[in-house]
Amino acid sequence: MKILVLGSGGREHALVWRLAQGGHEVIAAPGNPGMEREARCVPVALTDHQGITDLARAERVDLVVVGPEAPLVAGLADDLRANNLVVFGPGAAGAQLEGSKAFCKQFFARHGIPTARFFTVTTVAEADAAIDQLAATSAGVVVKADGLAAGKGVVVAENVAEAKAAAREMLEAKRFGAAGATVVIEERIIGREVSVFAITDGNTLEVLPATEDHKTIFDGDTGPNTGGMGTVSPAWTSADVVDRITKEILQPTLRGLRADGIDYRGVLFAGVMVDAGGAPYLLEYNVRFGDPETQPLMARMMGDFGKVLAGCARGHLPHGVLAWDPRVAVCVVVAAAGYPGTVRTGDPITNIPDERDGVVVFHAGTAKKDGHLVSAGGRVLGVTALGVSVQQARERAYAVVDEIDLAGKQVRRDIGARR
Ligand SMILES: Nc1ncnc2c1ncn2[C@@H]1O[C@H](COP(=O)(O)OP(=O)(O)O)[C@@H](O)[C@H]1O
Ligand SMILES: [Mg+2]
Repeated sequence: MKILVLGSGGREHALVWRLAQGGHEVIAAPGNPGMEREARCVPVALTDHQGITDLARAERVDLVVVGPEAPLVAGLADDLRANNLVVFGPGAAGAQLEGSKAFCKQFFARHGIPTARFFTVTTVAEADAAIDQLAATSAGVVVKADGLAAGKGVVVAENVAEAKAAAREMLEAKRFGAAGATVVIEERIIGREVSVFAITDGNTLEVLPATEDHKTIFDGDTGPNTGGMGTVSPAWTSADVVDRITKEILQPTLRGLRADGIDYRGVLFAGVMVDAGGAPYLLEYNVRFGDPETQPLMARMMGDFGKVLAGCARGHLPHGVLAWDPRVAVCVVVAAAGYPGTVRTGDPITNIPDERDGVVVFHAGTAKKDGHLVSAGGRVLGVTALGVSVQQARERAYAVVDEIDLAGKQVRRDIGARR
C-alpha cells in the first residue's frame, strides 16, 4: 500500500518506521529528518487541509494516518473523507473526546464509565464552590482547562488554595485562552497510571499492550509535567487490570459512541488511574496514538500494521493480524535544554549511532540546518530499545542515550526503574 502519515514527531517517526518495515511505501507530511530513511517527506502544514487533501489525491494514497490531535479536532479527517480518501483517525465529532474535557467527562457520566467525580464550571464562584465541596470529601482536587493545552492545562493541586489559584489563572487571567474558558474540577484519584490503546473501526476493538509513561521532567516523578519523558511496554498492569479496563471502560465507550451516533475510526487512548484495589478510573481520552508510548509499541509490534489501519479506516478491522514481540521495550526521551519551559533550539546533534540490533532512535524535535542535524523542539529524540528484561532494555537504551551529543540534553535516568 501507499500510506500518507501526517505529523512530525516521535510518534509519527515510529509509525512511519513500522509501516515501512511492513513493506509499505510511506509518505510523511511534514515529517522530520529521521523519517527520511523510511519515507518521502513533503513539507505541507497540517493546518492546510486543502494542501493535505491535494497531496493525498495527487499521490493516490491508499490510506492517510493522522498522527496528532489538533488536526483531528479541527476536522481534517472529515475533510479528507469528504474527498473520498481512506482515513485512520476520528472526525471532529469523535475528536471532541480529547478536544473538550467537559464533553469527555459528560460522555463518561452518560455512558456509565468509571471516572473521578467532577464539576464543569465557567466562573470563579462556581469553581470555588466545586473545589470546597470536592476537597471536603476526597483525597484532593484536580483543575483542568477544558480545551487542548499541549499537556500543560492540568493542575493536581496540593491544597485548596492552589486549586483555587489554578482555576483563577484559567478563568480570569485566561492563561490558556479559550481553552480555559470552561474548567473541569475533579476529585483526585490516588493510584498508578497506565496508558491503554485500542484501535477501532467503530464496531469492534483491538486492545494493544498496556504502556507506562513517565510524565514529569525529573527523576522520581518530580518537577513539572511534560509531554512524556519515557515509556515502557508492557506496563506494570496484570491481565486482570487490563481486562477490567477493557470491560469497564473501552467497551462501554464504543457502545456509547455508537449510541451517540459517532462513527469512530481510529485510536482510543485511555489514560487510566488504577487504585490500590485494582479499580480503574478513566482520567481522559486521547483520540490518537500516544507520544512517547507509540515508540515502544511499534518496536514490539509484529504483523501487517498497514492492513490493520486500512481495515479500521474502511470499517472492517481485521483481528488476529497483529502479534507482539514478548520482549520489553523501553523508550528514553532526550529533551532539549529548558524543556518543558522555554526551550533552547538550534543545538547540533551528533553521534547518533546507526540502528542496531533491538535499538532504534526515533526523531521528534529535530531539523536539518546547512546539512547538519540540530534540535528544533522540546523533545528531540526517543531512544527505544528491546530487551529480554526491563533491565536489559534500559541498559541498551541508556548506552545509546549516552553516546549521543546534544548540548544541555535532559534525560530521566529512571525510565522503567520502578518495577
Ligand atoms: N483525577 C485525577 N486524579 C489524580 N491525578 C490526575 C487526575 N486527573 C489528572 N491527573 C494527573 O494529571 C495528568 C494530566 O491529566 P490528563 O487528564 O491526562 O490531561 P492532559 O494529558 O490533557 O494534560 C494525568 O496524567 C495524571 O497524572
Ligand atoms: Mg493525559
